Amino acid sequence: MAPHANGVFVVSIYRSDMAHALIVDDDTDILDWLQEVARMEGFTVARAQCLREARIELGRQRPDVLLTDLRLPDGQGIELVDELEGPESTEVIVVTGHATVDSAVAALRAGASDYLVKPAEVERVQVVLRRAKKTSALRHEIGALREELRKLGRFGRILGSSPRMQVLYDQLSRVAPTSATVLLIGESGTGKELAAHTVHELSRRRDAPFLPLNCGAVAPQLIETELFGHERGSFTGADRQHKGFFERANGGSIFLDEITEMPMELQVKLLRVLETGAFTRVGGTAQVASDVRIIAATNRDPQKAVTEGKLREDLFHRLNVFPIHLPPLRERGVDMEQLALFFLEEQNVAEGTRKSFSRDALARLYQHHWPGNVRELRNYVQRAYIMADEVVEGEIAMSAPAAKSDDATIITIHVGTPLAEVERRVTLATLAYCGQVKRKAAQVLGVSLKTLYNRLEAYNGKGSLAGEQEPIEVLPGEGTREVAHATDPAATPR
Ligand SMILES: Nc1ncnc2c1ncn2[C@@H]1O[C@H](COP(=O)(O)OP(=O)(O)OP(=O)(O)O)[C@@H](O)[C@H]1O
Ligand SMILES: [Mg+2]
Repeated sequence: MAPHANGVFVVSIYRSDMAHALIVDDDTDILDWLQEVARMEGFTVARAQCLREARIELGRQRPDVLLTDLRLPDGQGIELVDELEGPESTEVIVVTGHATVDSAVAALRAGASDYLVKPAEVERVQVVLRRAKKTSALRHEIGALREELRKLGRFGRILGSSPRMQVLYDQLSRVAPTSATVLLIGESGTGKELAAHTVHELSRRRDAPFLPLNCGAVAPQLIETELFGHERGSFTGADRQHKGFFERANGGSIFLDEITEMPMELQVKLLRVLETGAFTRVGGTAQVASDVRIIAATNRDPQKAVTEGKLREDLFHRLNVFPIHLPPLRERGVDMEQLALFFLEEQNVAEGTRKSFSRDALARLYQHHWPGNVRELRNYVQRAYIMADEVVEGEIAMSAPAAKSDDATIITIHVGTPLAEVERRVTLATLAYCGQVKRKAAQVLGVSLKTLYNRLEAYNGKGSLAGEQEPIEVLPGEGTREVAHATDPAATPR
């Protein structure tokens, strides 16, 4: 405090390079103690014992970090979130004496970026405060990035400027720098993995690993060792200790794709790690600490997966702290065009060409339903690029994807069809689709012209070309598409 010329004391002198914390708690002992720790961490500190006092302090100076008790004499500490200058300018840490996951989860949903459970250890408070300082810096960076990218119609590597995507960018920038678990929900090909990566890249974990695990693609019995690792001798063949994702990704993020495919007993173990921050290796007893953020994804309705018994309800609640829905491509309007042009440009750059879409081709993008979303669009552009060879004024016009109801190519293949037969039918249908131009068909099928000739010769040898009646439908992104029908129960494997 410095005496003023007329004897009044001037209290509010803050160094602008110091982070400022506002601490709110009705218990003065806790206030004193938190203030002490915050000062040690280099914060200037203001304090309040109720919401009313806190509001006065907020009016005086915007804090970089707001540390607030959940229950205050005149209301809930989290109410202060709505009174902050901009939601992105202050990190909110909730201090709760009631160690329920629910109250902490509710606080995170309301905009808190972290929480402390009373009685908290000094080290834990220090970690949280340091983290908040870093997060606050990250948020400024993300804010600037967002402005820049908004003009370009993209967010990191995610393209699109439609209103649905703007909502997504808002959610990603809000959640990325926090420690909250993220659940990405969206149809196949909507960009869940891309979004997960973006969350990691915009978090303080970005210099540590991002490890993806597709629970639907890894054999269930291997998921456990993949995640938790195993001790030497824990099973036949385990000749050395193996470090799992939770150890290798320490300080980083694990992306659990197709979370509903994780075996139930493993879901219990995962929940335990999320709650305790520690796990044991398979065949071991020692608890290993791990600081990992989980980003999970599913292309199902998670609530329905709970009802169907595919996802444990308690794990769902733990993962569902911050659910983010990825919009299907058909709801993204002009983004379709932007994405198509981007994927075409990638091809042009790679091949040194200047192919372009005809206006008609671009218009027809909007007529298709895109069940495979962005992945389907990308595949469609890659195929259309190969197929386009019609020279128009020095440029090459690209064929348009047909609307679904048009002359689309679908070959119906029943479950249980021998692979050789599948190959034969796809080959012949593709050849028909390419107007019997073999060079083009070989390119689309990704085989050499010689291989295609050999195959056709073999098929002809069998004399099986005559009398084929396939329902044919051209689908963008697929060229030809197989639809598996399991009409004959005897033919259904399992
Ligand atoms: N908005 C976008 N901008 C640019 N590329 C995108 C966008 N969305 C998706 N992609 C690209 O489309 C492809 C599919 O995306 P991704 O793998 O993230 O989808 P997904 O939702 O995880 O699909 P699945 O459910 O099948 O696993 C990737 O090559 C990705 O880079
Ligand atoms: Mg994926």
